Amino acid sequence: MIKKGIILAGGKGTRMSPLTKAVNKQLLPIYDKPLIFYPLSILMLAKIKDILIVVNKGQLEQYKKILPDGKNLGIKINFIEQLRPRGLPDAFVLGEKFIGKSNVALILGDNFFYGQNLTSKLLNNVKLNRGAKIVLHKVQKPELYGVAKINKNNRILTIKEKPKKFLSDLAITGLYFFDNKVVEFSKKLKPSKRGEVEIVDLLNIYKSKKQLSADLIGRGGAWLDTGSIEDYYKTSSFVSAIENRQGFKIACIEEIALNNKWIKKKEIKNSIRFYGLCEYSNYLKKLI
Ligand code: G1P
Repeated sequence: MIKKGIILAGGKGTRMSPLTKAVNKQLLPIYDKPLIFYPLSILMLAKIKDILIVVNKGQLEQYKKILPDGKNLGIKINFIEQLRPRGLPDAFVLGEKFIGKSNVALILGDNFFYGQNLTSKLLNNVKLNRGAKIVLHKVQKPELYGVAKINKNNRILTIKEKPKKFLSDLAITGLYFFDNKVVEFSKKLKPSKRGEVEIVDLLNIYKSKKQLSADLIGRGGAWLDTGSIEDYYKTSSFVSAIENRQGFKIACIEEIALNNKWIKKKEIKNSIRFYGLCEYSNYLKKLI
């Protein structure tokens, strides 16, 4: 069972400069809320209440302004600063104390997921006891991502980071589930040519032990990009289209906490006070 989760929210966001010069990318808006709410909502939908957010050195105060400690969400939010981006598996080295003897989920701070059966998939994936699990999604440009080739039984045959030659159109999304060995394995990794430890190398350790499995998000689900300005606005439009049509918000973290019965009316009222007069608060008012 996985009860702890890490959000990796560091990175320089160079592709979105100058927007990201003063503000971390994950604090910029996807439509009506900061990007960080979306990956946080995914962990909360997976019923994970103990969360570590890895942020860039010097940006901790910015994050604490919007996510002070999780009390109003009925969860625990811890922060840790990363001196410089050293690659995704560095999250497990930095998070060693937080992880302790537990299994752990990792979500990249800029990943957006949406879909009808997403929650049930998440709840199934956090049942993991041993090994590691990745989540795959078909994309048109697999060369931009880590990619997995699978057989008809969903067994993983090959995984590769940003392959130049076509391998498969299944991208490895930025949501991963690991057993406790992940800390030990991450410590052993050597930096690649670009000077960072690579998630694919970590996954390949599990694969060589026949302990790597895959879950697939089908065409009814969306995994969207927020890497470039263009993708960022497309994802914003997606959220706007759905929210304005249905009147439901995507990634309203207070609503998820309320539905999970982690908080009561009182905490929602606190959140309304915290956010002040705004459209998001009006939505929260409707919940109670
Ligand atoms: C990282 C991972 C890649 C994964 C992607 C998902 O790439 O290295 O395997 O597919 O996140 O968002 P990056 O976005 O750091 O280039």
